Amino acid sequence: MENSENNSNRRDFLKSGALFGAFALVSPAVSFANSADNLTKKRTKKVPMRTLGKGKAAFQVSALGLGCMGTNYHRGRVPNRQKMLELMQEAVEMGVTLFDTAEVYGPYINEEIVGEAIGKFKNKISITTKFGFEIQNGKSVGQNSRPEQIRKVAEESMKRLNIDVIDLFYQHRFDPKVPIEDVAGTVKDLIQEGKVKHFGMCEVSADTIRKAHAVQPLTAIQSEYSLMWREPEKEILPICEELGIGFVPYSPVGRGYLTGMLNDQWQFYPQNDMRQDWPRFQPEAMKDNYKLVQLLIDFGHERGLTPAQVALGWLLNKNEWIVPIPGTTKFVHLHENMVTAHLDIPNQEWKALENEVSKIQIVGDRYPAEQQKQVEN
Ligand SMILES: NC(=O)c1ccc[n+]([C@@H]2O[C@H](COP(=O)([O-])OP(=O)(O)OC[C@H]3O[C@@H](n4cnc5c(N)ncnc54)[C@H](OP(=O)(O)O)[C@@H]3O)[C@@H](O)[C@H]2O)c1
Repeated sequence: MENSENNSNRRDFLKSGALFGAFALVSPAVSFANSADNLTKKRTKKVPMRTLGKGKAAFQVSALGLGCMGTNYHRGRVPNRQKMLELMQEAVEMGVTLFDTAEVYGPYINEEIVGEAIGKFKNKISITTKFGFEIQNGKSVGQNSRPEQIRKVAEESMKRLNIDVIDLFYQHRFDPKVPIEDVAGTVKDLIQEGKVKHFGMCEVSADTIRKAHAVQPLTAIQSEYSLMWREPEKEILPICEELGIGFVPYSPVGRGYLTGMLNDQWQFYPQNDMRQDWPRFQPEAMKDNYKLVQLLIDFGHERGLTPAQVALGWLLNKNEWIVPIPGTTKFVHLHENMVTAHLDIPNQEWKALENEVSKIQIVGDRYPAEQQKQVEN
């Protein structure tokens, strides 16, 4: 027994040595420039800006936004409301200008928190919110993107957010009952009326993007994208590049998994965490997928970065029109995440990481069947 444990430890050691060797081939170019100490000093520097979309649809935002959903909704225990208001205000101080929410997060409560925290900075920052669900008795009962529903959500969201115009209004999920041209046409009308500035869509196919963009130019597509879910690389990123549309990866640190904080021992908070029932967050899947986290740890080690920073740095390096929106409830994670906007690791090092990641088969679907039905790709 002891011998077999020793053998397996030795095998693990040799395996991790092999991974380390893979990264050592492309050793860190400027390790000091990227060291944790140096990055901490850089946190006084504001998060730099990027542009989503082109021409009239262009939208200037900070290179990383703050995903606000988890401040009340489905990411486990949260500190009190006051702490969440302070967290969002801290993000504004750091130069974050992009705050992402949706009517359905709560529902409604998330928009109220965001409105209370940052509505007063409305001329300095941008708030993105979403329509597309029918909410009854405090619960989403499916997709609804009928024109009258889009208009109703726009009016109600502006009130909750304490703003007079929505900077970017996304369709949250494709509605097979409403032609996409009608959805895009309604947002176009709202833009002409001065109620919305930019149009976006979440989790739609390349075909839908093309049709919608022909009616009202899109500023951004927001879909899941991370080192754990790279599906958008097949059709969505290419069409964004072709049409000049920005891309906003949601769940950029894999809903927390890529940070190394979650593992097969993790106890989800049952009252407020949808992850507990999702395939990728079951103990066996988390155990199996840990080899991916180990790669991020190995890559980050010599460069003085945490796995979360590696996950975000990789996304930011992919393209200048990519703007991830990590969510957090903690000041320390907010700072850890935002300093990645200042990394300067050469492309070939990120490529070496990507090649290693490509060899890993991720275990567990990203969504349970019910949610999977709502996404187009
Ligand atoms: N359009 C859509 O359909 C859609 C779907 C999902 C999400 N979103 C948007 O995307 C945003 C982010 O997505 P998400 O919350 O699903 O996933 P995420 O940002 O990948 O992960 C958030 C989780 O990671 C943890 N975390 C973040 N930074 C960390 C760090 N440095 N170290 C350790 N843990 C860290 C957070 O916990 P702590 O609080 O402990 O930091 C939280 O539980 C949401 O807020 C929402 O705005 C959009």
